[in-house]
Amino acid sequence: MTTDTKTQKKLRPATTLVHGGGTRSQYGETSEAMFLTQGFVYSSAEAAEARFNGEDPGFVYSRYANPTTAMFEDRIKALEGAEAARATASGMAAVNLALMASVRAGDHVVAAKALFGSCRYICEILLPRFGVESTLVDGTDIEQWKAAVKPNTKALFLESPTNPTLEIIDIAAVAEIAKSVGARLIVDNVFATPMYQSPLELGADVVVYSATKHIDGQGRCLGGVVLSDQEWITDEVMPFVKHTGPHMSPFNAWVLLKGLETLPLRVAQQTSSASKIADFLAEQSKVSRLIYPGRDDHPQAEVAKRQMRGGSTMVAFEIGDGKDAAFRFLNALEIIKLSNNLGDAKTLITHPATTTHQSMTEEARAELDISGGMLRLSVGLEDPLDLLEDIEQALTVI
Ligand SMILES: Cc1ncc(COP(=O)(O)O)c(C=O)c1O
Repeated sequence: MTTDTKTQKKLRPATTLVHGGGTRSQYGETSEAMFLTQGFVYSSAEAAEARFNGEDPGFVYSRYANPTTAMFEDRIKALEGAEAARATASGMAAVNLALMASVRAGDHVVAAKALFGSCRYICEILLPRFGVESTLVDGTDIEQWKAAVKPNTKALFLESPTNPTLEIIDIAAVAEIAKSVGARLIVDNVFATPMYQSPLELGADVVVYSATKHIDGQGRCLGGVVLSDQEWITDEVMPFVKHTGPHMSPFNAWVLLKGLETLPLRVAQQTSSASKIADFLAEQSKVSRLIYPGRDDHPQAEVAKRQMRGGSTMVAFEIGDGKDAAFRFLNALEIIKLSNNLGDAKTLITHPATTTHQSMTEEARAELDISGGMLRLSVGLEDPLDLLEDIEQALTVI
């Protein structure tokens, strides 16, 4: 295998996503090879011994590492500017890995309340079962983060923009607080994508992705990735991966590796359409609230401008007088599909209160401003005029 590094030049993101981390076999293939293998054979007993004791850095077993998965890790690592990356079977495996590798029994975690449901489950329910206390705060209120940290706080965790209300949390400010107590700041960067937000540059210690979303972008494979410094990945993340088995399959790694090649084009097009749709919705009398991080009327527009390079592919809005109107609107849509997924080439819409956030109590939903009329739109790659016409005709029924 050879690494494709003829040039020592620092490559721009779009070039990195086409060539970064690429290795070629003896056949010199153009497209990266898919190594669907569980294990590896050794030329001698001595070679096997050297592989196992680390003298020879080659592959041992695909639960530890695999050549195709390594190409995916190297490519996204180069884009993110991280020292090391570990790919996982799903976004949730990545979040769980990042948190588990950060804490021990007796430690404390602070997380924003506005988290994807399963992330909140890990913080609120799972970690306390293993003796890790957690405190949930309003992530947009920096004073609450300051008040919540303690000497035994080992991890701070947030996503920004949040799901589904697209709140923006000041990553640099939370990173300062994490540093002040020697804790690790973990940022779930799914909604912003690596194209629009670089948490490590803002002071975060760990970035996690559900690669299932924009990185695949075509609704095929689950995947996730944890990116951070080499020492932590080697000392804490790798042993967890090796012994508990959340590694990404090489098949999924191949699909996601190819997804990275088109990520900048897709995200730019989807964002351009999302911004047109947001502007259109803002003018509609039947839309009572519109939240889009790329607009000046976003509640945290100033923070968004400071830490994001684009408005994102996601739009949240509230319709009429609640759930009934929202359901009538959803059922009238023709091109836009109802689905809880996001980041896809297909435009997808979800009613968070009855789907992704259904298991929350009504009070918890109210605290996060998730009303019965709220809808979350993930804008895809269709012609934006078709999407606007679909929304316009569906609005007439409510
Ligand atoms: C913000 C966020 N984090 C994590 C996840 C989990 O990702 P996955 O479905 O790949 O496990 C999701 C969505 O499912 C998400 O929206």
